[in-house]
Amino acid sequence: MKNEYGVEMPGGSEGHDFETLDPAWLRSKTGNKWRKHAPALPAWVADMDFRPAPAITSHLTGLLDGGDLGYPRRDDNNRMRAVEAFATHMARRHQWSIDPDRVREWNDVVQAVQAILHVATQPGDGVVVHTPAYPPFFSAIEQTGCRLVAVPARIADGRVSFDHDELDARLEREPARVLILCNPQNPTGHVFGTDELARILEIAARHDLLIVSDEIHADLVFDRRTHVPIASLAGAEGRTVTVTSASKSFNLAGLRYAVSVCDAPHVAGRWSLLPDHLFGATNIMGAEAAWAAWTHAGEWLDAVVAHLARMRDLTLHLVGEHLPGVTVHRPDATYLAWLDCRATPVSENPHAAFRASGVETSDGATFGPGGQGHVRLNYATSSATLGQIVATMGSALRP
Ligand SMILES: Cc1ncc(COP(=O)(O)O)c(C=O)c1O
Repeated sequence: MKNEYGVEMPGGSEGHDFETLDPAWLRSKTGNKWRKHAPALPAWVADMDFRPAPAITSHLTGLLDGGDLGYPRRDDNNRMRAVEAFATHMARRHQWSIDPDRVREWNDVVQAVQAILHVATQPGDGVVVHTPAYPPFFSAIEQTGCRLVAVPARIADGRVSFDHDELDARLEREPARVLILCNPQNPTGHVFGTDELARILEIAARHDLLIVSDEIHADLVFDRRTHVPIASLAGAEGRTVTVTSASKSFNLAGLRYAVSVCDAPHVAGRWSLLPDHLFGATNIMGAEAAWAAWTHAGEWLDAVVAHLARMRDLTLHLVGEHLPGVTVHRPDATYLAWLDCRATPVSENPHAAFRASGVETSDGATFGPGGQGHVRLNYATSSATLGQIVATMGSALRP
């Protein structure tokens, strides 16, 4: 099939190769992942090492070759066509039917989270977060003058759980206004099941919490598990803002395009009172890349998820082989593994030890309560590069 510029759109049945990654090409990349800590091998920031889907790159090439970079077409409600594509993708992949009128476009997910906290909280308000957590949630809470209410993970027998009974009791003593849910969860890869989500909704209703649900990793779920958008459940009405992007699933983080689905009238109402360019406007390349991703790259996504599941399994195997004393549970989603290094000789600061060995991981201490003595490892690469990364980390643990 050809796109509107006459460029052939890949898709259909051809195979995708995530194993052939030329080391020279990786090292020549100009982005943060491969550059910032070079020559260390990068297993930190959540970018994948793969080229984006051909359907996306050929679409962007078509825009460039067509000299078509003026103000992009927007519908009567000022939305890019990516919004319709997003609604279709959600319905097809996650059985979630979205009213496009509730969708707002952003440059990135963290911007949307901050914009929600900005209008929905007052200084000193409590914000609930499951920890360890994606570090920008903490800065968003701090920068909006809010107070962290942490729900620590319990990781035992390879399973991740959060104590919502304890949260319920705690909110009686320590009221909060917002719960930031990250589902699937970064960094644990935990996929919240329907029962857990129903319990969270029940608690949110009793304590009148707004739920901000960051579902950016929703497409990257393994082993036939399903992602359940919390906003799709009964009892969520009027209480959620879901934030997401094509950037994790399709490896487009540099393009800066995200969306929110707002089912919280007070948030939408307060946003509408703000100057309409205060948060900037989305750019054509980000929005068109997201459109192409959600419209034409479904097969590529299936293939990358299958590859990531293999890399997840390989990570567990390699950790057992090279990292004595490190424990790691099997993530159900994402391309991030949460390594518990507290029983190793480098328990004080495993991130510094692995950096000294030649691998950059994400420092667990920045993931909040429960993060000390851990690192987060990004396994979205080829098996050869992953093997090199974990073997190099192993040298930090040898006497
Ligand atoms: C849970 C989560 N939310 C948000 C982001 C970042 O999204 P953005 O670059 O759109 O702000 C990431 C990136 O790793 C993430 O893991």
